[in-house]
Amino acid sequence: MKVKQITKSKPSTKGMENLKAKNNLPKWEYSKTIEDSKHINLKDEYDLFVNGKLVKTKTYFETVNPATEEVLAKAAYASKEDIDNAVLSAEKAFNVWRKVTPKEKGKYIFRIARILQEKAREFAVIETMDGGKPIRESKSIDIPLSIAHFFYYAGWADKLSFAFPDKNVKPIGVVGQIIPWNFPLMMAAWKIAPALACGNTIVIKSAETTPLTLYKLAEVIQEAELPDGVVNIVSGDGATGSHIVNHPKVRKIAFTGSTEVGKIIMKATAGTDKKLTLELGGKAANIIFEDAPIDAAIEGIINGIYFNQGHVCCAGSRLLVQESIRDIVINKLKYRMKNLRVGDPLDKNTDVGAINSKMQLNKIKELVKSGIDEGANIYQCDCKLPKKGFWFKPTFFSNVAQSHRIANEEVFGPVLSILTFRTPEEAVVKANNTFYGLSAGVWTSKGSKVFNILSKIKAGVIWANTFNKFNPASPFGGYKESGFGREGGKHGLEAYVD
Ligand code: NAI
Ligand code: MG
Repeated sequence: MKVKQITKSKPSTKGMENLKAKNNLPKWEYSKTIEDSKHINLKDEYDLFVNGKLVKTKTYFETVNPATEEVLAKAAYASKEDIDNAVLSAEKAFNVWRKVTPKEKGKYIFRIARILQEKAREFAVIETMDGGKPIRESKSIDIPLSIAHFFYYAGWADKLSFAFPDKNVKPIGVVGQIIPWNFPLMMAAWKIAPALACGNTIVIKSAETTPLTLYKLAEVIQEAELPDGVVNIVSGDGATGSHIVNHPKVRKIAFTGSTEVGKIIMKATAGTDKKLTLELGGKAANIIFEDAPIDAAIEGIINGIYFNQGHVCCAGSRLLVQESIRDIVINKLKYRMKNLRVGDPLDKNTDVGAINSKMQLNKIKELVKSGIDEGANIYQCDCKLPKKGFWFKPTFFSNVAQSHRIANEEVFGPVLSILTFRTPEEAVVKANNTFYGLSAGVWTSKGSKVFNILSKIKAGVIWANTFNKFNPASPFGGYKESGFGREGGKHGLEAYVD
């Protein structure tokens, strides 16, 4: 389908004149409000947390602050032998933990949540320094949601018979959990809290670029006096992860990360009796109908793709906008993007922080180049980027064809692809035209349209007139190449019981 070029198109709505006038207003600048990080005491080296103790290993790797490229600390690189020890410790602890009464288990999990609450600010600052996300987000989303997950599953620990009536459910045993770098503490909470509530013991591995908040969590677990070995925390890379996956004593694997690695893990566990849940990539459609509340939808688009620099598996990375409102949406989006503040993640005014790693930055650049080469029109935020660190301007592409790589592949960065549709039927077909099926968004003022559309979209989570909203009571997970199994809610318990 041939779509008009944005620059040549005429405004289709009256509001456009106002918008033009607004677009010529000077840009407001906020004074810097830097979050204090002086009280943060990082160690030079973080050891493995095995059997309730800190354990040294042979090799350590550096973790940097992606906003400054400065080395924050070194973290242990767990070898096969280290993983063997961690699994052995979890196996021994299973005999202890399974005998703890459900009510007592709940109290331990509750205690972890309470201690985390007390240290919330410290956790938020470290999460921001290690991963590059804006402090505003780590303070108001990552850390509170992590805490909420512990509270929520603390409540389930002694109510499993209500969750699974007429079934005498049992814990599985040692579970292996592998998490990505985009929401380190939150992904750990999503996995640790239900596993503990169901009576399992854990070996969990953080991602290469963001090991610090998990080792801080180890301190919290010690303080909560959880029996030794119930939670073991390690760091390392893909090889470390595969030692966990392939360990014969590990009875279940929970993985969040790329579809590519998800497939490797699926192959590795096929033919074993290991249970498996996979939460993989996404290419969510965010669908805006002509009867949508447009200004709210613009906020939803911004939140959908620029939240956490777009390093979000359920990001609304494919905007499907009804053709009749395409121009007004694109113009309003440009106006809104003019006011996005990109820069120091520790500045409380920052909207978009640093790209998590150089590797990820290169991947984003490569995909953006493909978008330009394949003929889509690029628009980028007119903002100054800091000299040091890894940065990418908030970007969108219009004139995107379904065949373009940027319409199909997960960019996992602040890059939006805009496509159009004419009828609801076309919107549904385009939304479902993807290998993925994790999330979607629908914007319309008609309730009946919401239900009609969402019943036809194959995605695990669908938001109506909002985007990227999470709640521990609500299950999260995908279809197709976005994986299987659910985390959160009562459904999240299923993965951790026999
Ligand atoms: P990744 O999938 O390689 O890494 C995720 C986690 O899996 C890390 O802890 C890693 O150490 C571990 N891992 C890697 N190979 C493994 C293996 N063979 N066995 C067991 N564990 C293994 O993701 P990566 O390389 O960090 O990012 C690559 C791309 O993946 C990104 O550009 C993005 O598109 C996507 N991604 C998607 C995520 C999501 O939440 N859906 C999260 C992270 C990345
Ligand atoms: Mg780091």
